[in-house]
Amino acid sequence: MRSIVIDGYEFAYREVGTGPVALFVHGFPLDGTMWDDQLARLAEARRCVAPDLRGFGRSDPPGDAVLTMERHADDLAHLCGALGADRVDLVGLSMGGYVALAFAERYPERLRSLALVDTRAAADTEEGRAARDLMATRVVTEGRGAVVDELMAALLGPDATLGVRARLRSMIEGTRYETLVGALAGMKLRPDRTGVLGGLDLPVAVVVGEHDRLTPPAAAEAMARATPRAEFTVVPGAGHMAPMERPDGVAGALRRLWSRAGEAATD
Ligand code: MLT
Repeated sequence: MRSIVIDGYEFAYREVGTGPVALFVHGFPLDGTMWDDQLARLAEARRCVAPDLRGFGRSDPPGDAVLTMERHADDLAHLCGALGADRVDLVGLSMGGYVALAFAERYPERLRSLALVDTRAAADTEEGRAARDLMATRVVTEGRGAVVDELMAALLGPDATLGVRARLRSMIEGTRYETLVGALAGMKLRPDRTGVLGGLDLPVAVVVGEHDRLTPPAAAEAMARATPRAEFTVVPGAGHMAPMERPDGVAGALRRLWSRAGEAATD
């Protein structure tokens, strides 16, 4: 585990491999360790960096009451600068994909390729926003134990191993209450970024688990169709946490993406 201080805030991150930087952005309510299997498989292809977003994992407490996708995107841009990476291959899962699209909107010149994994470009529905408010209230009044089982059930496919389930539970139970509340509020506020997809002039991968119930394959396929240079991959046997549940399928899609982006890419 490494850490870096940017404007007085300490970010934790893991890093393996050498070469062009690939930045892996985790989902909610998780941390950078969700990418461990990808880092183990892809270190020969890229300098793989998986940060804990502001407030999550071993990074400092959030500070902000609302953790917006734009705030995370700005943090990642600062992190890229601190790592000496002018351009990156950006990989985001679910909330990490919302952050990746905010990054693509704000810093298009800093992207070499983009992987949108088990995520969506659309904003929350009214019903979805109300569910976020309810979850935030329940988490604080009843404790995160009140929601952890339903989150696990929503995130994982039917065949997730005990080991994957254990890692996921540790991540969820390790997330600070103020981060849970701040991230729910931030996701609720995010705008529809479907329009960003059409303007992406770079290699894109849209990857989704066959059994993903939160961001289902049909919606992911529509997102790929709206993106000019997207390759669409369904990962058999996986749920929403495809990079953990079926790591080889996701690593294969990322290798194909990066070879389209150029093996000899430089930062
Ligand atoms: C995630 O996996 O990051 C969450 O399911 C995203 C969300 O709640 O919209």
